[in-house]
Amino acid sequence: MKILVINGPNINLLGLREPEIYGRQDYKALLEYIALAGVEANVPVECFQSNHEGDIVDKIQEALGKFDGIVINPAAYTHTSVAIPDALKAVAIPAVEVHLSDISKREEFRRHSFVKDACINTYAGFGFEGYKKAILYLKEYLEGKRS
Ligand code: DQA
Repeated sequence: MKILVINGPNINLLGLREPEIYGRQDYKALLEYIALAGVEANVPVECFQSNHEGDIVDKIQEALGKFDGIVINPAAYTHTSVAIPDALKAVAIPAVEVHLSDISKREEFRRHSFVKDACINTYAGFGFEGYKKAILYLKEYLEGKRS
C-alpha cells in the first residue's frame, strides 16, 4: 500500500502565508509531519506540491498503478478546478480531501469544493492533523475496514 499526498498552490509558502489562518509552521515542517504520520501508520507516503493545475493533473494520472490512495489539498483549485476532480475520477484511486482551514466557515467563494465529489472523505480545519487523519482513513479504507 502506498499513498500520494498532493498539495496545491501556495502551500509551499506555509509559515509566511497568512499565519493567522494557516499557522506559523512552514512547508518543510508539514513534510516532516506527513512523513512521521506515514511511519506511524506504517504506510509509505510520497509528497508532491505544485502551483500549477496541469502539473497536479499529470501527477494524478501518473499515480495510476503506482499509488493505492491519494490525499489532496488542492488549495485554491478546490474552488475553481474541474480538471482535478475529473483526473481523480478518471484514475479512480481512492482520494481524501484535506484543508488546513475550515473552508465552510470562511469567505463564501471557499465554501464550494469541486473536488469533494471525487473524494471519499474530507477533513477541513484540523491544520496539519488533517493529513494524518486522511492517511489513517485511507489506510483503513484500503484494508477494507471502511466502505
Ligand atoms: C486551503 C483553503 C483554500 O481555500 C485556500 O485557497 C488554500 C488553502 C486550506 O488548506 O485551508 O490555499 O486549501
